[in-house]
Order: sequence, then structure tokens, then C-alpha cells
Amino acid sequence: MSERETWATRAGFILAAVGSAVGLGNIWQFPFKTAQFGGASFLVVYLIAVFGIGLPAILAEFVIGRRAKLNAVSAFGNLGYRQWRFVGALGLFTGFWILSYYSVVGGWVIRYIWGSATGAYFTDSAAYFGAVSAGLDAVALHAVFMFLCIFIVALGIEDGIEKATKVMVPSIVVILLGLAAYGTTLSGAGAGYDYFLSPDFGALMSNIGDIVPFAVGQAFFSLSLGMGAMITYASYIDGEDSLVADGSTIVVLNTFVGVLAGFVVFPLLFAQGIDPNTSGPGAVFVSIAGAFANIPAGRAVGVVFFLVVLIAALSSAISLLEVVTSYIIDNYDVGRAPTATAIGVGLFLLGLPSAFDTAWLGWFDTLAYQLLLPVSVLLVLVFVGWILGGEALSEVMKGSSLGDGFGTTWLWMVRVVVILAVLGTLALGIQTLFLGSEPAIVPPL
Ligand code: PFF
Repeated sequence: MSERETWATRAGFILAAVGSAVGLGNIWQFPFKTAQFGGASFLVVYLIAVFGIGLPAILAEFVIGRRAKLNAVSAFGNLGYRQWRFVGALGLFTGFWILSYYSVVGGWVIRYIWGSATGAYFTDSAAYFGAVSAGLDAVALHAVFMFLCIFIVALGIEDGIEKATKVMVPSIVVILLGLAAYGTTLSGAGAGYDYFLSPDFGALMSNIGDIVPFAVGQAFFSLSLGMGAMITYASYIDGEDSLVADGSTIVVLNTFVGVLAGFVVFPLLFAQGIDPNTSGPGAVFVSIAGAFANIPAGRAVGVVFFLVVLIAALSSAISLLEVVTSYIIDNYDVGRAPTATAIGVGLFLLGLPSAFDTAWLGWFDTLAYQLLLPVSVLLVLVFVGWILGGEALSEVMKGSSLGDGFGTTWLWMVRVVVILAVLGTLALGIQTLFLGSEPAIVPPL
């Protein structure tokens, strides 16, 4: 078997991981939930969740990947715990499941780039969404999105994913900055910022029991945890640089993009007096598209906006395709390109129900978000904290100038605090899923 690939540079790894993290979750979900759950007050809760819970958890995935230098499933066996490979398999399955419908949404985004250029949705954005979100059009563009993913992953780690994300991630930031600057010129900008961030302690406190687990769940989803992605990406690290430094950079950039997205979407919506308090898959497409119909240079701004969403979605999606691809090519003597293609075809097929009916998409998403993801994250944490233990500790401290106290704190955070936090999101998810209570965590679309 040929030698396993690695990232060419440390920055390459960081950018690829940021590419995985920054996705629809940041641009769609994060700004709207922040606004709804108390603006700046929620942001404080989220920051605590993402740094206090998300960062230790992403380090746990990095530890497995870099130490084993194998795909997300075989890594557990390579570390000497073959019986724990089911945890990796669950992550792989979760990633596969998520990517199947994420690709359908990616197809919608491609459609909206075109719709912006032609102004197709300008007269009735709700009717347009209804027409393009399900059916043969959606199927065709789901195929196109999947093809783009296959193309990048087939080229390999260094020549495909690393090169692509090196361009994509900076583009996301630059384009969003440009759109945010444009947003300042719109008449509704002030009201938009106000809606986004003005602290509403009452809104936060009145629902704190749901909001805290939501913030934790959002942190996990946004950091692409529980899907095998971060284990897989870390398995291609060559050097022994500080995982803590890399992980912190990734978390900071990911959070920054989410906040920046809020500075883009709310001025657009408020310029038109559109109610941002809508929910359900597609609501954001309808409301944002409605805004482009009436603002200055709406077509061009719409094209650019949906383009940045597409780049973000694509740089996330390739990380999940890579999870499965690396599992196959690590274990069987098959080429990367045919493997990525075959998996892509499988994903396309699994995505068909979602492409034909948005209700299916919602169901796939709910199951992943409420159940598969938290269970998968939980098992990874138990493995790293309680099974690997000291071995994980020495891996996380490699290349780090932080004292031993940091490592011990990290380990105990993983062992107790982070695990309890995941149990909280899981309890909320199960309650939503099986007891039919009002979903506090709406699907991240
Ligand atoms: N971190 C990604 C996001 O926020 O959109 C989560 C993700 C979803 C990654 C789907 C990859 C993916 F295919």
C-alpha cells in the first residue's frame, strides 16, 4: 500500500479544519439563534460553551487522530482498543448521514446563485423556494454539489483538500467582510445590529434550561465534532506542533465567522423590514432572498452572498466525504478517486428522499442533531477521558509550552464537565425527539 498522505503545512491543516467547521451552521443557524436567544447575553453563554466545552472536545478528537495516524474507525484499533472501533463507526455513519442531506441544501445554494443572477425569485421568494427545494431540480443540483465534493476529495489531501481550503477559507472571510461593509450602508443596518446583539437577559433567563444545552450542541455541530471529521483531519498531521494552539485558532476563527455572518444577514433583512423570526428548513432562504429583491444592486449582492454560503458548505462537506474515503483507502487496496466517487454515489442515493421532500430532510437532520451527534461525541469523550487517559494527556501536551497543570485540567474537563454537558444536550435531544416537546433546538438550516 502506498504511503499515507499528510498535510504539506501546519497552516494547511488549520485551514482545512476551519473549512470543515465553518459551514451552514455558522451562516444560517448561529446568527438567528443568537438574536432569538438574547443577543449579546446568549453570545456570552455560547463563548463559554465553545471555549469551555467545544475546545476540550475538539482536542480530544485531535488526540485520537494524530496519535493513531489512521482513519476515524481504524484509529481506535491502532491505539490498542479494537473493541472501541464501533465509536469511530458511529461517527463515520453520522457524518455520512449528515452529508446526504447537507448536499441537498448545497444544491439549493447553487440554485440560488443562479436565481440571484437572473432575479428569478424576486417576485415571490416563498413560491420560488417551494418550486426549487424539492423534486427533480433539487435532485440534479444535489448531484452537482456532490460532484464538486468528489472532485476535490479525489485529488487528495495535499493537492485536493489542502489546496482548495487554502483558497476557500480566506475567501469566506474576505467576502463576508465585504458584505458586512456593504451592510453598513443599508438603511436598516442599525436596527439589524440591534436585533442581533442587543442584550436581552430576560429572553436568556426565561429559557435558560433549553438555551444552555442548545449552546453546547451548537458548539459541537459547528466544530464538526462527532462526525469523524476532526479525527480524520488530525490523522494527516505530520509534525508535533501544539494541538492546543491549533485547536484554539480553529475555535476562534469559527466563532469569528459566525459573528461576522450576523453582521451580514441582519442589515440585509432589516433593510426590508423582513421578520427574521421565522423557522423551519428553508425559512432563511425565503427571507434572505426576499431582501435581495429590493436592495440596491440586489442581484450582484445575492450572487456574492450565496457564493460565500456555497464555499462554506463545500469546505465542510469535503471533510465528511474524506472521513469515509480515508476509512476505505486505509483498509483496502483501492484508489482514492474511485473510492471517493463510489461513496459520493452512495451519498447521492441516500440524499434522494431529502431532495424529493423537505419533510424528509427535516427528519434526517433532526435525528442527526438530536441523537446521533450527541451520542457519538459522548462516546469519543468517554474513550479519550477514561480509556486513553494519560496517553491522551501526553499527546495533547506535545509541542505545547503550557504547563502540566493545563493538561491535567483538560483531562478532567473532558472526563467530567464536557461529558456532563453532552449528557445535557442529549437529554434535551431525546426529549424533543421522543416526547414531542417543543423543539428548542431547531434544525440547523
Ligand atoms: N461545522 C459544520 C457546519 O457548521 O455547518 C458542520 C458540518 C455539517 C460539517 C455538514 C460538514 C458537513 F458536511
